[in-house]
Amino acid sequence: MTTFSDTPDRYGIVSRTLHWGMAILFAAQFLSAAAHWALPRENTLRETLWSYHTTLGATLFLLVLVRGAWGLANVPKRPPQSGRVGQAAIAGHLAIYALMVLVPAVRLLASAGSTRGFSYFGVQVLPAREVEVAWMQVASAWHGEMGWILALLVLGHIAMATVWHRLIRRDGVLGRMA
Ligand code: HEM
Ligand code: HEM
Repeated sequence: MTTFSDTPDRYGIVSRTLHWGMAILFAAQFLSAAAHWALPRENTLRETLWSYHTTLGATLFLLVLVRGAWGLANVPKRPPQSGRVGQAAIAGHLAIYALMVLVPAVRLLASAGSTRGFSYFGVQVLPAREVEVAWMQVASAWHGEMGWILALLVLGHIAMATVWHRLIRRDGVLGRMA
């Protein structure tokens, strides 16, 4: 049965919509980062994919705040995690959450302290500074590296869900998010 909130048997419609909707958006975000990293500067495909990177990144930042708040409100109702694998799953999910927040946050902080500010869908949400604020730029030096670590964690997460849970253990873990 589909429920609005999570239950011990299954994630509810809100959690599942956020999970799969954001999974598609993250795929597009990693695609733009991969093109930025792999293709030469003047390449048209690289420019096209890069054109949405900052707007989609800011959107993912807003969505992960909503998802985190919804997740916290639903923690007592969620499917239980048991044993050592369950504890590892919790640690893995927390690491993914931490990076889903930190990766865009460090870049948005840098924009907040920059002479260009940040505009979101044409609206200047972070005003331009007259002088760049040096400390606000520091953490953004690791934006790309942290982004690639997040991509690796997500690949591990997908392997656990599909190969370990679905093919080897054949338990219902994939089904409760599907
Ligand atoms: C969850 C959201 C985000 C993810 C997963 C992500 C991921 C990445 C990755 C993996 C790279 C490295 C690309 C390379 O090696 O060439 C990168 C670069 C970059 N990203 Fe993001 N990004 C996100 C959000 C944002 C946001 C919100 C902004 C701007 C406000 C931004 C601006 C940039 C810029 C300017 C670069 C090139 C310079 C650098 O590597 O720091 N990103 N991003
Ligand atoms: C094909 C892609 C994916 C599959 C098959 C998949 C599968 C799953 C499954 C089965 C669960 C429930 C696990 C459990 O209850 O123990 C789950 C939860 C979770 N997944 Fe994924 N996932 C995918 C993509 C992603 C992506 C791209 C992200 C983040 C960038 C992500 C982040 C999470 C997080 C944080 C949870 C914990 C529950 C929550 O708060 O939403 N997943 N995933």
